[in-house]
Amino acid sequence: MKIGVAKEIDAAEPRVGATPDTVKKFKALGAEVAVEPGAGLKSGLLDSDYEAAGAAISADAVKDADIVVKVKRPETSEVTRYKKGALVVAIMDPYGNDAALKTMADAGVAAFAMELMPRITRAQVMDVLSSQANLAGYRAVIEAAEAFGRAFPMMMTAAGTVPAAKVFVMGVGVAGLQAIATAKRLGAVVTATDVRPVVKEQVESLGAKFLAVEDEEFKNAQTAGGYAKEMSKEYQAKQAALTAEHIKKQDIVITTALIPGRPAPRLVSADMVKSMKPGSVLVDLAVERGGNVEGVVSGQTTEVDSVKIVGIPNLAGRVAASASSLYSKNLLSFIETMIDKSTKALAVNWDDELVKATALTKDGAVIHPNFQPKA
Ligand code: NAI
Repeated sequence: MKIGVAKEIDAAEPRVGATPDTVKKFKALGAEVAVEPGAGLKSGLLDSDYEAAGAAISADAVKDADIVVKVKRPETSEVTRYKKGALVVAIMDPYGNDAALKTMADAGVAAFAMELMPRITRAQVMDVLSSQANLAGYRAVIEAAEAFGRAFPMMMTAAGTVPAAKVFVMGVGVAGLQAIATAKRLGAVVTATDVRPVVKEQVESLGAKFLAVEDEEFKNAQTAGGYAKEMSKEYQAKQAALTAEHIKKQDIVITTALIPGRPAPRLVSADMVKSMKPGSVLVDLAVERGGNVEGVVSGQTTEVDSVKIVGIPNLAGRVAASASSLYSKNLLSFIETMIDKSTKALAVNWDDELVKATALTKDGAVIHPNFQPKA
């Protein structure tokens, strides 16, 4: 059984799907591992590190691989190089990308979307959304601190007192919780909001203050899967009024609000941005899904009346070595379930709930129920 580690062709993607550490584990499972030259370079991993772990370095690493490990969904030029029947494991960004799914189906590969992994105890170790969002939340605060012309902690000096920065975190899932923790560590005064009621206690346990419209709809805003629902127009209006009052007094706003399979909810209007003090900074983690902040531009920092809106996509990629290390372990844990320990051969159980939840394509067709071609 051969595992091929792809070098990402997107120049803006510095992460890699395997590290020397996971290569060793794959080898112990009986696999041969080949790595495309330079695959780990942007994560600080040299070809010689992979070789020392027992991998071969080859430009053809993915060509005859039974399993291709990647970070991003392969493009046409990539997937057509893989052998028919190969398993391809990556972050596939499947929503709204029907044509790309068809391309993978046509190429005859079995594509698995790691972000569709169910959030059950058994699969926690395979949860790429959590491993990457945690780092993105951390990095968002670092980016905010970098763009902010003042200090985060309160400093009392002989030359005068610097007040603590006021940080407001909107959307408190995995990324938001880490953003709160990071901002607290830097000494900021932190408030946070979310539409899911369970979040209140989590926010308070981190020493931040929770702020939300806590009406009947709020009490039922969490789905059985633990995600947020799209809120009604009425709720959104009440939420906007509360946000508008609060945001005026903030120095930093970090937004992370997402709804699975939907565009990101718009939480901060252009008027709210305008109401902020000069020098304030907004960092929008939802920028890849349309953004929570009106006026955010992917890949740019825009300035409106001296207020900066930071729209960095792939924030986890800015801590690439850490992100690759955790992502690779997520992949290893999933792929391990597809290898027979005694025969050391590939043995995918297509009835396993983890496989069913993540498998997008197989045998020339899109098989995932959520992405069936429309009649
Ligand atoms: P996400 O990335 O889908 O969304 C981020 C946050 O935005 C969520 O907290 C959501 O409630 C919030 N949001 C959505 N619409 C909003 C609005 N209009 N205003 C304000 N906030 C809004 O969420 P993530 O980080 O993936 O976490 C979702 C849930 O999954 C959480 O309950 C988390 O604790 C849980 N989880 C469970 C795991 C497990 O059991 N294995 C692992 C990781 C997370």
